[in-house]
Amino acid sequence: MFLDGGFCSLAEMYGYRDPIHKISVGYRLLERCWGQGIASEALGMMIDYLYGETDIEIITASTMIENQASARVLTKNGFPLVAHAVGEDWGYGQPTIADKWIR
Ligand SMILES: CC(C)(COP(=O)(O)OP(=O)(O)OC[C@H]1O[C@@H](n2cnc3c(N)ncnc32)[C@H](O)[C@@H]1OP(=O)(O)O)[C@@H](O)C(=O)NCCC(=O)NCCS
Repeated sequence: MFLDGGFCSLAEMYGYRDPIHKISVGYRLLERCWGQGIASEALGMMIDYLYGETDIEIITASTMIENQASARVLTKNGFPLVAHAVGEDWGYGQPTIADKWIR
């Protein structure tokens, strides 16, 4: 995504599981772009696309437990917290302790 003509952020959909129609979503912004509602809007657009135009039935997300801004983005978009402080493999060698959300 771009803001004022410059790169600002990315939003991702990953980990598609065909048999259960599940996918995970994420987002990451440059600091100059924080606090302007961009992640919330991007997540809303991903939800609309996935539930409106694909066969996805389950959307999941994971956040670092200290990242309250990211948690807020998810709760604002209707994701309940389903697991707190569980191990998540983000490919860093060691599991990251994360919260899990499902919508
Ligand atoms: C977390 C992140 C994605 C949020 O993006 P953003 O565009 O700033 O988020 P939004 O502006 O859409 O919404 C943020 C919400 O969190 C709230 N918030 C911000 N800091 C907060 C904090 N420390 N505690 C609680 N809520 C907080 C904001 O007030 C806002 O809620 P509101 O609309 O009810 O006021 C962004 O800061 C980021 O990319 N950070 C670095 C990378 C990262 O953490 N990625 C997510 C990995 S799980």
